[in-house]
Amino acid sequence: MSFEQKPCHVAIVMDGNGRWANSRSLKRTIGHQAGITAVKGVVKSSLKHGIEVLSLFAFGQDNWKRSDEETSFLMQLFYRSLEGEYKKLHAQGVRIRFIGELSAFSDKLLGMIKEAETLTQCNSRLTVVIAVNYSGQWDILQAMHKYQVQQHSLPQTPGSLAPYLATSGLPDPDLFIRTSGEQRISNFMLWQLAYTELYFTQVFWPDFDANIFEVALRWFDTRKRRFGNAKDNANNAKTIKDEHE
Ligand code: FPP
Repeated sequence: MSFEQKPCHVAIVMDGNGRWANSRSLKRTIGHQAGITAVKGVVKSSLKHGIEVLSLFAFGQDNWKRSDEETSFLMQLFYRSLEGEYKKLHAQGVRIRFIGELSAFSDKLLGMIKEAETLTQCNSRLTVVIAVNYSGQWDILQAMHKYQVQQHSLPQTPGSLAPYLATSGLPDPDLFIRTSGEQRISNFMLWQLAYTELYFTQVFWPDFDANIFEVALRWFDTRKRRFGNAKDNANNAKTIKDEHE
């Protein structure tokens, strides 16, 4: 399958693990476990389609409001998944990068994150960005703080703040996908999503597969991106001129 217009960076809010589990009378944690299979699938599809950056919102700062059982299960799941996968991902040329307030995590998990990031840091086929204890508002605030400490002034243009964001060096997402039918950004990459195309699908995250990913890519292929420009710049310029004559 080939596309005329392919996203360079795809960002996903992997929503609906809990509802997927509830609809099967299973515990929410089983839904998260099933979500890992979908994560592996979307990494494989991204490699197949030549996506350069895949960002996954794995744990938001507001997710600490969940039960201790669920949050500690998720921390263990991150550790186990990373431990089991990072060398395989490295072998496929995948770079792993974590964004978020990482200091909240245990030394054990931090050690695993560092190991995976260090091993894969020179890979360039696909960068998988995993957002944990992340929020878009946190990212903007931490970038402003870092900028002020280093530059002793305030940023005057969006471009001057960008290198201080957690996503520094990465292009902004072209395509945002959220599963489970919710149509919200939920504090993911607020700054970076300024001109991103937003795609929402009803399927719960554990059911997200290669076919649904391709549907989203085909939908993206039909989008006319303007970044604030006019539909047809030449005609529009003429229309505005005519109106004023
Ligand atoms: C949202 O579903 C999902 C999460 C908060 C966790 C997502 C995490 C994974 C899929 C594991 C990813 C791991 C790595 C290492 C990338 P929900 O619990 O909010 O579902 P609900 O809205 O139906 O309750």
